[in-house]
Amino acid sequence: MAAKGNFSLVFLVVSAIVMAMFLVLPAKALKETTMTVYFHDYSMGSNATSLPVVGFPGKIWSFGNFGTHFVTDDYITEGSEFTSAMVGRAQGNFIIASLDGLRAHSSFSLVFTNEAYNGSTIQVQGNSHIFSPVREYGVVSGTGKFRFATGYVTFETLLFDPSTAYALLRANITVSHY
Ligand SMILES: *[C@@H]1O[C@H](CO)[C@@H](O)[C@H](O)[C@H]1NC(C)=O
Ligand SMILES: *[C@@H]1O[C@H](CO)[C@@H](O)[C@H](O)[C@H]1NC(C)=O
Ligand SMILES: *[C@@H]1O[C@H](CO)[C@@H](O)[C@H](O)[C@H]1NC(C)=O
Repeated sequence: MAAKGNFSLVFLVVSAIVMAMFLVLPAKALKETTMTVYFHDYSMGSNATSLPVVGFPGKIWSFGNFGTHFVTDDYITEGSEFTSAMVGRAQGNFIIASLDGLRAHSSFSLVFTNEAYNGSTIQVQGNSHIFSPVREYGVVSGTGKFRFATGYVTFETLLFDPSTAYALLRANITVSHY
C-alpha cells in the first residue's frame, strides 16, 4: 500500500512539472498589423500599371464587361501623393467575373520594398462589386514578416481622372501574423 501511495505522489509531481513547463514555455503569439497605404493605378498609355490582356472574342475588353482579364502592377505609397515614400507594388490580376459585369474576382500580392517589410508579401484575394464605395478583400496568406497572415483589406477610390485614366485608391490593411 505504501509503495502504491508513493507512486501516486511521484506521478502527481511529474504531471505538475510537465503542466508547468507548458504554461511557462511561451506560446508563439499572433501579432496584428494595420496600415493605410495608397495605390496608384494608371490604366492608359505606355506607362500603364493595369491593362486588360484578354477577354471574350467579339466583346469589348473593359472594366464592367464580363470575361475581361486585367493584369496589374500598381505603385503603393505611404501617403496619398505619388511622390511620397514608396512602400511596394500590387502585382497580380483581376477578372470581371459576373455576367452583369459588376463584380470582379481579384488575386494579387502586395510586394513590399520599404525598409520595414522589404521582400515580404501579403496575398490578397476576393470578390467585390466594382463600383461599391468600399470594396473588401480577404488576406489569405503572406511571406517573410507576414507568414501565416490572415485578415482583410478595404479599398476606396479617392480620385479618378478619366482624361489620364489615373485612379488613386486608399487601402486599409488589417492582418494577424506571426
Ligand atoms: C513614361 O515613363 C517614361 C520614363 O519615366 C517617361 O519618359 C514618359 O514620358 C512616360 N510616358 C507617358 C505617356 O507618361
Ligand atoms: C530591399 O532588399 C533589396 C534586395 O535585398 C535591396 O537591394 C534593397 O536595397 C532593400 N531596400 C531597402 C529599402 O532596404
Ligand atoms: C481607412 O483608414 C482611414 C484612416 O487611415 C479612415 O479615415 C477610413 O475611414 C478607413 N476606411 C475604411 C473603409 O475603414
